[in-house]
Amino acid sequence: MQILVCGGAGFMGSHFIKYILEKYPDYMLVNFDKLTYAGNLENLKEVENNKRYKFVKGDICDASEVDRVVRENKIDTIVNYAAETHVDRSVMDPSAFLKTNIFGSYNLLEATKKFDLKKMVQVSTDEVFGSIDSGKFREDSPFEPNSPYSAAKAGGDLLCRSYFVTFQTPVVVTHSCNFYGSNQYPEKLIPLFVTNLLEGKKVPVYGDGKQVREWIYTEDHCNAIDVILHKAKAGSVYNIGSGDEIENIEITKLILEYLGYDEKMIEYVKDRPGHDKRYALDANKLKNELGWEAKVNFRDGLKKTVDWYRENEDWWKKIKDGSYLEYYKKQYN
Ligand code: TYD
Repeated sequence: MQILVCGGAGFMGSHFIKYILEKYPDYMLVNFDKLTYAGNLENLKEVENNKRYKFVKGDICDASEVDRVVRENKIDTIVNYAAETHVDRSVMDPSAFLKTNIFGSYNLLEATKKFDLKKMVQVSTDEVFGSIDSGKFREDSPFEPNSPYSAAKAGGDLLCRSYFVTFQTPVVVTHSCNFYGSNQYPEKLIPLFVTNLLEGKKVPVYGDGKQVREWIYTEDHCNAIDVILHKAKAGSVYNIGSGDEIENIEITKLILEYLGYDEKMIEYVKDRPGHDKRYALDANKLKNELGWEAKVNFRDGLKKTVDWYRENEDWWKKIKDGSYLEYYKKQYN
């Protein structure tokens, strides 16, 4: 396969590139990334000299750049990790979210159709379904997004559906629960809290901390996309869940424990506007149809993640975006 990994310099895209290069010795991967604040080529240092890997700087919002990279590299498959992903940023300024998550997805669908590619995998989120108090979202649950971020992702996903129905474009959509692991930009809950504590700073828990998220470790998610890439039928939709549902406050306490701090380091701050209470996915379709299941237990994965941030201060110290955190405080508090 000749795969175009859009957003390959980001957290999950870079994990996926390293995973596929190692697992499939005859695959070629092109990392197409705009290098926004969350893109970081240091994530790919260990593969930058690999002859089957190439980086091309570019924006999925620019159709001519997308067409060129597909044509010049004889791409046959697209995996789209390129997205604006941080809910708080989308509350402050939705415009980039609409462009990348909707218009960018459209350009990739057009390229898939125009160049007659074998497959496009759209990596999306459980957040398109909104919040659920009990039970789990299935692939056919209605979209009820509550943030500009999730609304924009829902728009991209619906375009995928329409391209399959209208043009038989071979696209597959995945809805995943929250990712965690090494190399995640320190604005998301886990890396923000770990790095704050490593800097001796408090951790800002939104509201009462009783919100629930389902968490999947990087390796498990790469493995799920691998299975979907090779086995899923065009036009299908799969939830990728781990079954590990945890309250934010419980995660916070685990991180405090691993790093040897007590609860005085918790600062309860004003809640995120429109904050979804709970996400939970029914991932039985992926298990029953394609035989995939998550393997990494949350506590083990979290421990590995905390250790990685502890051992890689160089990586996060220079990218931690203090101005954004200050802005957040002013805006919400
Ligand atoms: P986040 O990592 O932003 O992912 P998402 O909003 O996409 O689920 O947040 C995970 C949960 O942690 C969410 O319920 C919001 C909460 N949270 C905090 O309590 N404090 C924080 O500083 C952050 C970033 C998140």
